[in-house]
Amino acid sequence: MAIKLLKAIASSSFPVFLLGSVILRNLHIQTKSIAKSLMHNAIPGLGDKTGMKSIVITGSSRGIGYGLAEAFLQRGCQVTISGRSVANINKAVSRLQAKFGKSVVFGYPCDVSVPEQVQALWDESFQAFGKIDIWINNAGVNHPMKSLWELPAETVQSVIGTNLLGLTYCSQVAIKGMLEQGFGHLYNMEGHGSDGQILNGMAGYGASKSAVRYLTKALVRETQGTAVKVSTLSPGIVITKLIDDQFRENPDALERVKGAFNIFGDRVETVTPWLADRVLENDKSGAAIAWFTPQKAVWKLIRSVLNKRDLFALDNATDTYVGKLSSADIGS
Ligand SMILES: NC(=O)c1ccc[n+]([C@@H]2O[C@H](COP(=O)([O-])OP(=O)(O)OC[C@H]3O[C@@H](n4cnc5c(N)ncnc54)[C@H](OP(=O)(O)O)[C@@H]3O)[C@@H](O)[C@H]2O)c1
Repeated sequence: MAIKLLKAIASSSFPVFLLGSVILRNLHIQTKSIAKSLMHNAIPGLGDKTGMKSIVITGSSRGIGYGLAEAFLQRGCQVTISGRSVANINKAVSRLQAKFGKSVVFGYPCDVSVPEQVQALWDESFQAFGKIDIWINNAGVNHPMKSLWELPAETVQSVIGTNLLGLTYCSQVAIKGMLEQGFGHLYNMEGHGSDGQILNGMAGYGASKSAVRYLTKALVRETQGTAVKVSTLSPGIVITKLIDDQFRENPDALERVKGAFNIFGDRVETVTPWLADRVLENDKSGAAIAWFTPQKAVWKLIRSVLNKRDLFALDNATDTYVGKLSSADIGS
């Protein structure tokens, strides 16, 4: 029974339902001219000359995507930062360039649910770095934890449009590009539902993430014998800005799940360096890189007896959650 519960938690049931905030979709078409203004600092073709790994991460203006970007940069890679909001990309790019140098950080806006923008993200990143070794389909949104029929159509459209349709477009573009360049590894971000677990109120998000696992497995087969590899990433329970915002509006719901979050959850800065290391050392197609395992859950339970954590502690100076102040959330 306990193992079953831990498995359910490991499949990220907790965090995703908390990601209930509706991300306003269609912020919208990022114009080519705005996009160009983000590009001026990149040095075209640098990747060719240095042999550094070039990595595109969708939805990397904040949260897990930003944390991954920072971790890859710390490990000597060059990274494309992306998302829908140009302002947030600018903030993320400036901060990362100040830390790692202008030549290794490139920003380009892209709504993954718009195929032309996805193709432009590949083309411009390729032009900036001369190659794309790794493409991470990280962009994702969630809906409030409600029965499917209570959700507005535009919310469902946003969740499926980003998590499934967008990830599918990105997979098409990335695999085609990688086949042309003769190498590359695509990673898809899983979440609640990927392992088939069902949680009331999470039908839309869960269905999209369940489909991500199916799609990835199918792509592993379809790319067999080619130079392209396809794998998955699973971050476990991560306190992101979206969760923080969600609970600021709904303190009762926060109180109900805070205990579990503090035991089983982690900050972006804890999870993403681990994921980045596994990605960089992985050479196998079909790999399932998962931060949270039943073994880790047991360890976290034991640790919780000795060490009480408060991932939601308020910072007195700013009256915001300490987690919110993490560098991974600067884009928000
Ligand atoms: N947090 C967790 O506990 C958890 C657990 C399991 C799985 N995951 C998965 O991990 C991934 C990242 O989640 P997170 O918690 O880091 O979320 P987050 O903090 O809300 O960040 C989401 C990122 O995706 C971007 N984005 C959203 N919709 C997009 C679209 N249509 N096109 C392009 N970019 C888009 C956002 O920027 P814009 O809004 O500017 O576009 C932002 O950069 C998601 O796939 C999520 O399902 C998270």
